[in-house]
Amino acid sequence: MENTIVKEHLRLRRVFEKHCIHLQRLQWRLIAGGLAALAAVGVAQQSQTTAEDGVRQYQNMTPEQRAQATRAFLGLGPEPDKAAAARGAPVYQQNCAFCHGPQARGATGPNLITSDQVLGDDRGEHLLPFLKQGRPEKGMPAFAAMPDQELKDIAEFLHLQVEEVANRGAYRVLNILVGNAAKGQEHVASHCMSCHTAETFAHIASRFRSPEQLQRGWIWPSRAGNERLAVTATVKTADGATLTGRVTQVSDFRILLVDSAGQTHVVDRGPGAEVKMNDPLEPHQRMIPTLTNDDMHNVTAYLDTLK
Ligand code: HEC
Ligand code: HEC
Repeated sequence: MENTIVKEHLRLRRVFEKHCIHLQRLQWRLIAGGLAALAAVGVAQQSQTTAEDGVRQYQNMTPEQRAQATRAFLGLGPEPDKAAAARGAPVYQQNCAFCHGPQARGATGPNLITSDQVLGDDRGEHLLPFLKQGRPEKGMPAFAAMPDQELKDIAEFLHLQVEEVANRGAYRVLNILVGNAAKGQEHVASHCMSCHTAETFAHIASRFRSPEQLQRGWIWPSRAGNERLAVTATVKTADGATLTGRVTQVSDFRILLVDSAGQTHVVDRGPGAEVKMNDPLEPHQRMIPTLTNDDMHNVTAYLDTLK
């Protein structure tokens, strides 16, 4: 009796799952078809003709013209500057790709194509200040020293990626373990041992659940639960006292410190106050922009062998 119920349950689940897959496929086709049809209607509205004329016009367009119509219809903002994007591509690959993926679709860092920071930007006016400051406490380094022109080129590169996804939507799943472990080992020996010992890397792969997490973990080590990596500061207050502790919040106006006894201090950064920050990861952060995409893949492939 119980067995029949289980069998029936499994049968129903299979039927259900099959229908779900059909439904999903259907939905995608509808969305893809719908976008083209809507863009065609958009063309009709722009040229003030009927929807049918719009569809005909859309069908007669070159792929480039179609992309243009879709872009206008989706409200993607000004057309990306292709020359600037081409200049920005290598700068992006060199500085950002290992965290955000070669096409900005995310790797250990978030997908930038769906990012509000990118979508809300037209010509770098929001992205530049953001990139200069970063979010170091969340693993996004600051690019304060990068020239504005290079940052603008990166912004155009990102806008072009958004456009390409919106207009074509071709996703590519990346396997993170594509590097050469032997080359990775050489890279670690020649580029990491000036600051590290073998102890840093012993069994490093077994501390992470997946190659993605290992990659994120060595490129940008997490400070969570690791006292040694905490940002600390020594503060001289305006009335001459000296405080030292772990920084929990910092702005231009105030700094919050937790001292070794666990007590929190709030210090105003008014005239007379001196703050000296100490970020243990600062030397490691300086190394990050020197990594190429290949270095990153090779080092991850090597570290993954250290279970
Ligand atoms: C070491 C890894 C790393 C590098 C290198 C890096 N990023 Fe990030 N980036 C991150 C992480 C992690 C976040 C998410 C931070 C958070 O949670 O707020 C982020 C966030 C962002 C965001 C905001 C996303 C959002 O919507 O909140 C943008 C935009 C961005 N990065 C662009 C760049 C660009 C452009 C570069 C190269 C110039 C770059 N990043 C280099 C790791 C990195
Ligand atoms: C200029 C110095 C410097 C270089 C070069 C450097 N790092 Fe680091 N790295 C640091 C410092 C400083 C820390 C933080 C303190 C610590 O853990 O020793 C750190 C932390 C780490 C951590 C986290 C250790 C932990 O215990 O959580 C890993 C993993 C790491 N680095 C990997 C690498 C790899 C891989 C390379 C080479 C591709 C490299 N580092 C190159 C300075 C450097």
